[in-house]
Amino acid sequence: MFDNWDDLKKSIENCKKCKLCTNRTNIVFGSGNKNADIMFIGEGPGADEDVQGLPFVGKAGKLMNMAFEGLGIKREDVYITNIVKCRPPQNRVPEANEAEACLNYLRNQVILVKPKIIVLLGSTALKNILGSDLSITASRGKWIEKKGIYYMPTWHPAALLRDENKKIEFWNDLKSVKEKII
Ligand code: URA
Repeated sequence: MFDNWDDLKKSIENCKKCKLCTNRTNIVFGSGNKNADIMFIGEGPGADEDVQGLPFVGKAGKLMNMAFEGLGIKREDVYITNIVKCRPPQNRVPEANEAEACLNYLRNQVILVKPKIIVLLGSTALKNILGSDLSITASRGKWIEKKGIYYMPTWHPAALLRDENKKIEFWNDLKSVKEKII
């Protein structure tokens, strides 16, 4: 564990703990307020994120931005990161060994940010953080408290691109997050 952001970032830049390192253009470390009350955790970088080295800058990220704007959540006020920091090929779901190899980096980020709320974006974030037995369909929209942190599982923004009906649920889940922090 590192007690500062620079050393943590450097160690990820040099990371070769799993095979995802072989194809990365950039690591996608995370972005936003390093002292945020709210932290968002996605799955892993896609093509745009790999090129820019920033999380949620592609299509799914743009959709998330629109929800943020509508709800008055500022991207610069929250912290956004992913389960894995390197792009899985063809945007496949990270394998268990890849997520496992990367999870201590995320734990370190959570320790440094000290968020009050963590929004779990989709099944991969939910399963790796709260338990592989949980389903996103059953868990989304319901607060789960664990060791003083409140977790809100919701749809991954990419799921909204495939199913319009999920947009309202995603919106309501983020609204509930916004209301909890006021
Ligand atoms: N999907 C994710 O899970 N994370 C990103 O950063 C972008 C798309």
